Amino acid sequence: MCGIVGAVSTRNIVPVLVQGLERLEYRGYDSCGVAVYAQDATPGLKRARSTARVAELAEQVATTHLEGTLGIAHTRWATHGAPVVHNAHPHFSHGTGLDAASKPGRIALVHNGIIENHDELRAALQARGYVFDSQTDTEVIAHLVDSLYDGDLFEAVKSALTHLHGAYAIAVFCKDEPQRLVGARAGSPLILGVGKDGQELFLASDAMALAGVTDQIVYLEEGDLIDMQLGKYWLFDKARKPVSPAQRPVKTVVAHSGAAELGPYRHYMQKEIFEQPRAIADTLEGVEGITPELFDQQMNHQPGANAARVFAQIDSVLILACGTSYYSGCTAKYWLESIAKIPTQVEVASEYRYRDSVPNPNTLVVTITQSGETADTLAALRHAQSLGMHHTLTICNVATSAMVRECSLAYVTRAGVEIGVASTKAFTAQLAGLFLLTLCLAQAKGRLSDAEEQRHMKAMRHLPAALQAVLALEPQVMAWADDFASCENALFLGRGLHYPIALEGALKLKEISYIHAEAYPAGELKHGPLALVTSSMPVVTVAPNDALLEKLKSNMHEVRARGGVLYVLADADTRIESGEGLHVIRMPEHYGELSPMLHVVPLQLLAYHTACARGTDVDKPRNLAKSVTVE
Ligand code: F6R
Repeated sequence: MCGIVGAVSTRNIVPVLVQGLERLEYRGYDSCGVAVYAQDATPGLKRARSTARVAELAEQVATTHLEGTLGIAHTRWATHGAPVVHNAHPHFSHGTGLDAASKPGRIALVHNGIIENHDELRAALQARGYVFDSQTDTEVIAHLVDSLYDGDLFEAVKSALTHLHGAYAIAVFCKDEPQRLVGARAGSPLILGVGKDGQELFLASDAMALAGVTDQIVYLEEGDLIDMQLGKYWLFDKARKPVSPAQRPVKTVVAHSGAAELGPYRHYMQKEIFEQPRAIADTLEGVEGITPELFDQQMNHQPGANAARVFAQIDSVLILACGTSYYSGCTAKYWLESIAKIPTQVEVASEYRYRDSVPNPNTLVVTITQSGETADTLAALRHAQSLGMHHTLTICNVATSAMVRECSLAYVTRAGVEIGVASTKAFTAQLAGLFLLTLCLAQAKGRLSDAEEQRHMKAMRHLPAALQAVLALEPQVMAWADDFASCENALFLGRGLHYPIALEGALKLKEISYIHAEAYPAGELKHGPLALVTSSMPVVTVAPNDALLEKLKSNMHEVRARGGVLYVLADADTRIESGEGLHVIRMPEHYGELSPMLHVVPLQLLAYHTACARGTDVDKPRNLAKSVTVE
């Protein structure tokens, strides 16, 4: 979603800002821009903006010789106002009066998040003569800061923030103070980067934006405000009290930009699907046995948050997540209830945060998030905490994220940076973390014998090799994808542990190929969706050789009897053969409890190859963003 980079330096900073935007491209965006204080023949605020890719912005910058030592840049994912150039950030204020629009700008600003009271602020500013160029909520902040400016940018921003309701991370500068950059965060992440010479300072929404520029990072906390000048910065907390360096220490953060190399793959999604054996091996590295300490590992360990104590105390689990992460939670529910025998509830974060629920202080609240930045999941966590549920744990792929910082316990998966908008390797890595959690809770409740522990550990160690063997099915999946490419609808069926995998398969297909896909627990077929089945409706069935296989076979007969064409993922030892209207891909083995982690892989490949055949933008599907930092 939206991304911010800003810098105050002594060199021309534009190439660094544009490079930062390139590194943020993976988050998804529909327009981008960069602004500087230009000290050329006509000094003042100057900018370039584009609704194409960052590469096009880079060309504009080169052609117009945009240069400056102070600047901000942004990738925008439209919320208020269409993705057109005049809505792209940075926004400038330009004074008041009839000729306002033609007056040179004074304040330049970029913003992530949503200002909820932008309508009333806009009306008040318009009444004072401010003229708006865009439909964005962001432009309101630029004019508001301008209206409060009296020679001190920091004071103007500080005062402007008291009028804002909503979520924001902002970076602002003023043409009258050409060596000063001010930033603030509330509800959206923002970091400070300290340059190698100690003089150059950066602001960014994500450490990845500064990869290769600096690894010296300070994480701003909720409500922080920062005043930056060359080589010096001052931080203030939400009460506007000065924050000492000990309170927000500089951390060395290794954000690999190398992950952005495609190698032999056509798309990042394909690369990431094929990285799964390594992602799982890395995620499970160092796990010698089942022990609660696995969940104690995290950056700012909270005093008293000891997994062994917490696991002994809790009597239920509440999982909060969105999208693909929600489906990993739905899978984990089956594990937690069947192996650890712990009552488990899984909720879509955006629903949970707004509904009345009955809190149980002995619940372990588990958030699942690849990015650790998803606004709804963070808000759901805070909501649970506000209801008195303080045993919190996250399964997250970003060690430095807000989610890891805000939860007492964590398991940080090591899938590596995921660039493709459609989550693949992060999903299977989450499942690995959730399986470990299941075993730890089972152990804490006395429901895991040593023999069982050994059996599960062996199965987990086998996962990388098992995934590799499943990836070798790619040519067979490509043959299915040829059939799917010309369809407009598809149905996915699964039962039990594999119903969430059917849901995930349908989500993958719809988000990148734009084929309408639905998933049902197979037993529900005759309660409605069977009416949709015709010869032009492919029906994907996840059919491992488990206790529900015979029931699933009956459901498949129901489909065939209506002329539906079946595409079945069967286990090595399942007696289902290909035939008329029945296409079978046989999985290399039978995987027991870990089967969902293997069965999802052909479904990822099916979505990927179908999307390629339809010519969609696989890594950046329309309307979607990688990091959903607004609600
Ligand atoms: C789909 C997908 C999304 C995310 C969802 C939550 O492929 O990636 O559905 O799973 O936006 O994101 P995180 O896991 O970052 O909280």
